[in-house]
Amino acid sequence: MIHKRILMVCLGNICRSPLAEGILKAKVDTDFIYVDSAGTSAFHRGELPDHRSIEIGKKHNIDITEQRSRQFLAADFEIFDTIYVMDNSNKNNVLALAKNTEDRNKVKLILNEINSGQDLDVPDPYYNDGFENVYKMLNEACTHIANNI
Ligand code: 4NP
Repeated sequence: MIHKRILMVCLGNICRSPLAEGILKAKVDTDFIYVDSAGTSAFHRGELPDHRSIEIGKKHNIDITEQRSRQFLAADFEIFDTIYVMDNSNKNNVLALAKNTEDRNKVKLILNEINSGQDLDVPDPYYNDGFENVYKMLNEACTHIANNI
């Protein structure tokens, strides 16, 4: 029986949110907690995660190679209890599809889990690298999420 549904969102759904999905799945009982990820863009629809995210995951015993990129949809507000966005730009794009206050209240910046109220971004590693740093941030945030479910 699924008790809670959590969606991780970034821009491409190939670098940050696939790692966030894989990391959180490793920390919760997936019989009870459903975790998925999506991108605000459709740039990489149907693609595997970026090879650099796959490598960082593998290094930490997390296999994300079953994942394929998909776009965030307004219908996701009907499915998920919490939507964790990686940065403020993702947040604006997701909020643009919200229909009401209930939808808006589901959207949270993932780093506010560990840096409450600071509205920090998980830096986009696509052009700049920094995947290990992204992994560390997401691991810390997901530990907090898992401990507070
Ligand atoms: P992500 O990284 O949002 O963490 O998946 C990106 C992936 C692709 C692009 C930008 C960011 N892109 O512009 O194609």
